Amino acid sequence: MSSEPQQATSQEQLDREAALTDEVLASFSDAPNPRLKEILQSLTRHIHEFAREVRLTEDEWTAGMEFLAEVGRRTDEKRQEFILLSDTLGLSMQTITINNQAVGNATEATVFGPFFVEGSPEIQQGGDISFGAVGEPSWVEGYVRGTDGNPIPGAKIEVWEADDDGMYDVQYDDDRMSARAHIYSDDEGHYQFWALTPVPYSIPADGPAGDMLRNAGRSPMRAPHLHFMVTADGYRTLVTHIFVAGGDYLDSDTVFGVKDSLVKDFVTQDAGTPTPDGREVEGTWTKADFDIILPPAES
Ligand code: BEZ
Ligand code: FE
Repeated sequence: MSSEPQQATSQEQLDREAALTDEVLASFSDAPNPRLKEILQSLTRHIHEFAREVRLTEDEWTAGMEFLAEVGRRTDEKRQEFILLSDTLGLSMQTITINNQAVGNATEATVFGPFFVEGSPEIQQGGDISFGAVGEPSWVEGYVRGTDGNPIPGAKIEVWEADDDGMYDVQYDDDRMSARAHIYSDDEGHYQFWALTPVPYSIPADGPAGDMLRNAGRSPMRAPHLHFMVTADGYRTLVTHIFVAGGDYLDSDTVFGVKDSLVKDFVTQDAGTPTPDGREVEGTWTKADFDIILPPAES
């Protein structure tokens, strides 16, 4: 096997390469499912074009296959290395962008990430999502409204985040559930809760996706954020985060999740500043506002 790139200059060479692509395209032409046919033929066109454009060597092809095999080996019921790879290549964010068409002033969506857990505890208005997770307290509040401006009562707002060490509860050694909860918007569409001021953290970088980042000179860090998933009957489900204005990595978030519209001020309050619900807080705390606008379900 040669590791030297081959030059494809002659017309005969170009014709051979194009003929092979056409042969593979034709092999899918009778696929009974038209969507599957469209996807496989488009994949064929792009992947052949990729190999031809970079003049992929056989050694590079082998290394790529070994890399993908390692991605598979690192994937289990607790860790999805393929999703991490998709996230760090921006494919997850591109798919989200395609599927959450801009509608009026609807809140932008961003990556889901691997740390959502079904069945988080319900909290009441003014409740605390931390459940023992350590970090600077943060009062978060806002309204849930439709694109028509009308309040949406009873919207389910699921929130989750990392603790001050940049760890999610699912990364702890025990089965604790913390720094996650859900709350329902009230009759005016309003919600308010205590969370932790988000901090930057590294995505799991001890596998092949992390190797790719290191080899490319990229950081594995995520900009500080608080995850939201908002569901309400008749409205499009929103999966998003809010990011801390002025936080690190806003310009280099490793999964390309940052959108300007989602960057919010987490305003630091001096120790001793009265809290909105009269809770005693030792030390500083922050306050963030986030109004959520949902488009109709069919949009
Ligand atoms: C997260 O924000 O939780 C996340 C997103 C993508 C990859 C890893 C983590
Ligand atoms: Fe996260």
